[in-house]
Amino acid sequence: MSETIDSLLHEERRFPPSAEFAAQAVAKPDLYDKAKDDRLGFWADQARELLHWHTPFTETLDWNNAPFARWFADGQLNVAYNCLDRHVLAGNGDRVAIHWEGEPGDSRSITYAQLTEEVKKAANALEALGIRRGDRVAIYLPMIPEAAIAMLAVARIGAVHSVVFGGFSAESLRSRIEDASAKLVITADGGWRKGKVFPLKNAVDAALSSQAAGGATTVEHVLVVKRGENEVDWTDGRDLWWHDTVETASAEHEAQPFEAENPLFILYTSGTTGKPKGILHTSGGYLTQCAYTHKNVFDLHPESDVFWCTADVGWVTGHSYVVYGPLANGATQLMYEGTPDTPHPGRWWELIEKYGVTILYTAPTAIRAFMKTGREYPQKFDLSSLRVLGSVGEPINPEAWIWYRDIIGGGETPVVDTWWQTETGAIMVSALPGITSAKPGSAQVPLPGISVDVLDETGARVGNGNGGLLVVTEPWPAMLRGIWGDPERFIETYWEKFDFEGSPQRRMYLAGDGARLDSDGDVWVMGRVDDVMNVSGHRLSTMEIESALVSHPIVAEAAVVGASDDTTGQAVVAFVILRAKQEAAQTPEEASAILRAHVAEQIGAIARPRQIFIVTELPKTRSGKIMRRLLRDVAEGREVGDTTTLADTQVMQIITEKLK
Ligand code: WTA
Repeated sequence: MSETIDSLLHEERRFPPSAEFAAQAVAKPDLYDKAKDDRLGFWADQARELLHWHTPFTETLDWNNAPFARWFADGQLNVAYNCLDRHVLAGNGDRVAIHWEGEPGDSRSITYAQLTEEVKKAANALEALGIRRGDRVAIYLPMIPEAAIAMLAVARIGAVHSVVFGGFSAESLRSRIEDASAKLVITADGGWRKGKVFPLKNAVDAALSSQAAGGATTVEHVLVVKRGENEVDWTDGRDLWWHDTVETASAEHEAQPFEAENPLFILYTSGTTGKPKGILHTSGGYLTQCAYTHKNVFDLHPESDVFWCTADVGWVTGHSYVVYGPLANGATQLMYEGTPDTPHPGRWWELIEKYGVTILYTAPTAIRAFMKTGREYPQKFDLSSLRVLGSVGEPINPEAWIWYRDIIGGGETPVVDTWWQTETGAIMVSALPGITSAKPGSAQVPLPGISVDVLDETGARVGNGNGGLLVVTEPWPAMLRGIWGDPERFIETYWEKFDFEGSPQRRMYLAGDGARLDSDGDVWVMGRVDDVMNVSGHRLSTMEIESALVSHPIVAEAAVVGASDDTTGQAVVAFVILRAKQEAAQTPEEASAILRAHVAEQIGAIARPRQIFIVTELPKTRSGKIMRRLLRDVAEGREVGDTTTLADTQVMQIITEKLK
């Protein structure tokens, strides 16, 4: 790790914005000065300029009950009205909101007027199903316009959505439905991926029947969009087709104002324990920061740009930069259902040419995968419409950054590396494309209005040239407001390490990432410092995968590590001890295949280990803690490091011998 850090910090290439780009940029350098002079006043201005308030707020931040923040608390707004109606009322109803392309090649372009009408119908349908302000609605959909419509309809009536990524298993869906006591599930028969239909409705059926087995389910209805045309089972009275229910509903629906702190959504993310946390976001502050960052970081010109964020709505990036940011700003965007290489490896580039995409926002994993397949695919298409490129989800290595700029951006487009998290709600650290001189590999500077720092274990600032723990030092509008149903865990996880005794208002937010400050004070994010892995830009918990493994009857014990991987950043590697009786019953290859499938079934295919090593021992300290560091050495094919603190110093020898 330290070698990588050193080589990163020797990255000397600099890319200042061109004079031409800077001249037309929406963000001017005085944005930094304004935010510095009066941070709260700056955010109040952003909230007023970027959003419509039914009732204007008078107070910007209430931090008296830290770390439970209230932003713009006496103001009232409607999130969906801000993303829809007001653009229509401003005369932009004919502007395309979403160009959608299905994987098989079918497409729809939906204007703001049409999207508003669809959301109004859906809002009426939800109300007719008894969904009220504050009720939770689970959304388990492929990347189709109905995903955005469903989220906005829930927001419009003041209810709370919990989007569950369509790649998650029935079991993951069940635990999320249960944790939030969802009343309604919105799903589809199936969606398209890699040239095939993947079913979704059957996972909902499985989730609800296993939930009912353990007690009564809170789910009253399942609303099903027809997309895959695959066969589905039907529970009369509970299940309803979207086309019968929503499309027949009235298109008249007046958006009611809700207070700024009305909960907007819960999104589950992996933490250091086996149980995912339901991160809670509210309305006014979240939408303010989504709109502000989307406008300034991507240099959005809503009349002419075509924005494309490739994330699935099941992740926070899809919430903030497919749904809320772009729609609050009245932008035109592309939404694509399928995988980048279906039916051919140039599909993304073909879409960029077809729709004239000007801003592309994606993950380093995707870029590295494209580098591997070769530049000949993007070079077949006209990508000259692109003018800003963004990266998110994991550290981007300078080589991928340069390839992105050169091959996709024609050697000219600015690249912004944006650091943020499910918890931060919106981008926190990023270059501004018309202002910052870009450094490949560094997320660089906190945005105007955001304050971050890097501290050592004792809470002292490390200063330029050093590494430590990344913290956010001041509350920010899109910050998480809590963990659903678990205020204690919220405080413990994020706010206790640096709580500077006696002054709760001086608590700092612990991000869970390691970072270095270079000699200019720019931030280089190095990755998680806890038991969270980052696989293809998706967060996975080692503990969660370990519990999935030990839930299988053939497993006695399991340890999981994130091993570095050229394409996916990290990959899941598991070390498993089988139960004594099982050892003879199947070969290690068979056991490993069974367990890889089991993890995919328990959590989802994204968590399926790349490799499972069947071992007879695990390296433990005298106090019984598994030393993952040593397992990571094995997984990454390195010489095993210092083993002197092991209870049994022979263990690593036994493991490596066995794996030879
Ligand atoms: C990592 C995704 C380096 C980081 C928006 C963080 C990054 C976790 C970057 C959050 C970046 C995100 N450079 N690392 N630009 N962006 N990360 O919650 O480890 O899915 O803590 O949110 O991704 O992942 P999450």
